Amino acid sequence: MRRLESRVAFVTGAARGIGLAATRALAQEGARVMMCDIDADVLTEAAEQLAKDGLQVRTTSADVSNRSELARAVNAAADAWGRLDILVNNAAITDDTPFEALSAEQWHKVMNVNLDSVLYGAQAAMPHLRRSPCASIINVASIQGLRGQPNSMAYATAKGAVINLTRCMAVDFGPMGIRVNAVAPGYIDTRMALMHGNVHEHQTDWFQDVFIKHGRLPLRRPGKAEDVAGPILFLASDDSRYVTGQALVVDGGLTCTY
Ligand SMILES: NC(=O)c1ccc[n+]([C@@H]2O[C@H](COP(=O)([O-])OP(=O)(O)OC[C@H]3O[C@@H](n4cnc5c(N)ncnc54)[C@H](O)[C@@H]3O)[C@@H](O)[C@H]2O)c1
Repeated sequence: MRRLESRVAFVTGAARGIGLAATRALAQEGARVMMCDIDADVLTEAAEQLAKDGLQVRTTSADVSNRSELARAVNAAADAWGRLDILVNNAAITDDTPFEALSAEQWHKVMNVNLDSVLYGAQAAMPHLRRSPCASIINVASIQGLRGQPNSMAYATAKGAVINLTRCMAVDFGPMGIRVNAVAPGYIDTRMALMHGNVHEHQTDWFQDVFIKHGRLPLRRPGKAEDVAGPILFLASDDSRYVTGQALVVDGGLTCTY
């Protein structure tokens, strides 16, 4: 028996990266997954590949920072399969605007996409999750939500807030049997890790020097999207049935060092 047989999941930012890897992991364990992303073309291509592999997925395009669009997308999952058990709030944008240049508009954009969407997703899913005997919400945060980082005021603040929002939701939703946890990835090799000039952060001299040569990264390699999908699957499944309100750090040991 697969771990998520007959369950229904909704994953945001599912067109690529961690969201796509999480979709595959959940579907391989038997879940039917509604994949949601703002990038409709890439989303369709990704879903077609998963369907060819025999996995049960559907797509819905939405901007997670738009409350009504996200609610429509979440309801589409419940309408399609008659239930909703797992919500993965994963979609986000990165931002490295220095303090002096950080406009109110950019600050609010990062908060809207990276933080408000987590609240909106949970609110839209709540009527369905309340009816599930095995409801689980997984919010994708970041180790930047646990530490300061240069030129990351908006992104890191939003991710820190996602971690505490996760705790608050766990407290409020626990009596309804709904678990809420976060994952906090470190350096993961996805499109988000591409720097200006299209170089992956882990390919820079700085990363190689500090993290590999000088040993700041105990596992000595950047993570892959699949490295985060496993912990998301764990938090979605009954294997974590007594775990709620936690931020599971998935960073190759980076935050163990200083
Ligand atoms: N890659 C890393 O190193 C890293 C580290 C820590 C945390 N994270 C977090 O992991 C999550 C996934 O990131 P990733 O690395 O897979 O990034 P990615 O850029 O590869 O994928 C993000 C996906 O989210 C979608 N998206 C962006 N804005 C959206 C919106 N408004 N509405 C709907 N979809 C939207 C994008 O189209 C994209 O498909 C994010 O929450 C990110 O902050 C990533």
